[in-house]
Amino acid sequence: MNPAPNLILIGPMGAGKTCIGRRLAERFTLEFVDLDQVIVEAAGASIPTLFDLVGEAGFRRHEQQALQRVLGGHGQLVSTGGGAVLHADNRAAIAGHGFVVYLRVSVAAQLERLARDKARPLLQRPDREQVLQDLAYHRDPLYQQLADLTLDTDLYTAAEATSQLVVKLAAHWQRQDPIA
Ligand code: S3P
Repeated sequence: MNPAPNLILIGPMGAGKTCIGRRLAERFTLEFVDLDQVIVEAAGASIPTLFDLVGEAGFRRHEQQALQRVLGGHGQLVSTGGGAVLHADNRAAIAGHGFVVYLRVSVAAQLERLARDKARPLLQRPDREQVLQDLAYHRDPLYQQLADLTLDTDLYTAAEATSQLVVKLAAHWQRQDPIA
């Protein structure tokens, strides 16, 4: 049993972090927090607008601030953006404040799930498959390094993946409440 105050979902775009995260939060009576949504609300701008205004590097600064703020809390299911693991400080914060679930997905499944996506700036280009492969090559080791638990989501619906995780989490994660 691994005690932690939050559940944190990591993994690439299209792995199902938001969809599965909402369901898992309900099953464990946790507050669902979508890190991208926190960034959007704090910045008062959508993710594509933020990328336009401050570039990816600027977006990463917003992401880092949002993550630090959110991880000060407890009893949350935090769904992170695919690139939240890039910064070493973020990885330390994630590892230190939650039980980490890596939702894995193949590039083929990502291409299918994200075919009509217009909201992810990194994918608004013709060579999506190559972009996704490069991201996976660089990020998969980081996801693996952080994960307390990994689930391949390719073959599952969100409901099926949630059921699998409920069983695994019951065996591995011990919810840690703050000392009163
Ligand atoms: C990103 C993933 C997105 C979002 C932004 C950048 C990435 O989140 O944070 O578009 O670098 O992989 P999702 O993983 O929730 O799509």
